[in-house]
Amino acid sequence: MIRVLFVCLGNICRSPTAEGVFRALVTDQGLADRIDVDSAGTGAWHVGEEPDARAQEALAKRGIDISAQRGRQVEDSDFDAFDYILAMDQDNLKNLIRLCPSDRLDRLALFLNHAPELGVEEVPDPYYSGGFDRVVGMIEAGSRGLLDHIKRNHFAA
Ligand code: 4NP
Repeated sequence: MIRVLFVCLGNICRSPTAEGVFRALVTDQGLADRIDVDSAGTGAWHVGEEPDARAQEALAKRGIDISAQRGRQVEDSDFDAFDYILAMDQDNLKNLIRLCPSDRLDRLALFLNHAPELGVEEVPDPYYSGGFDRVVGMIEAGSRGLLDHIKRNHFAA
């Protein structure tokens, strides 16, 4: 089993969106029993909350339901449990690097490293500024690249 954790600040906008989009892609490709997906925030303000209504709406338009997700904060055990820990922006990555044991640092990366064609390294925080549809588009590109990477590196025939 390959385990993937998406991380943002609040775990109510970007990382739940990535969890929903990536899980849908994994399920479509028949890989749900081989890839586990979760998300978490570096901050604790929204622990226990469902995803932001604007994120839910942007994904509902694409047939993806994330209403059952609940916010949680990154915890120490995540650095053992997950093979890929993918940050939405540089601040998230810096916070993860601070928390992560030094022998697990190679699990951390920026999510959009998997979508070099975008020419952007961060998924912008839409909480105050909006732009959820653009965020979903970036997350779709990152998810395709990440799944290709996992298939190439772990499931090669
Ligand atoms: P997210 O967005 O990190 O994509 O979930 C945010 C959600 C909440 C806050 C900031 C960003 N906040 O400051 O409460």
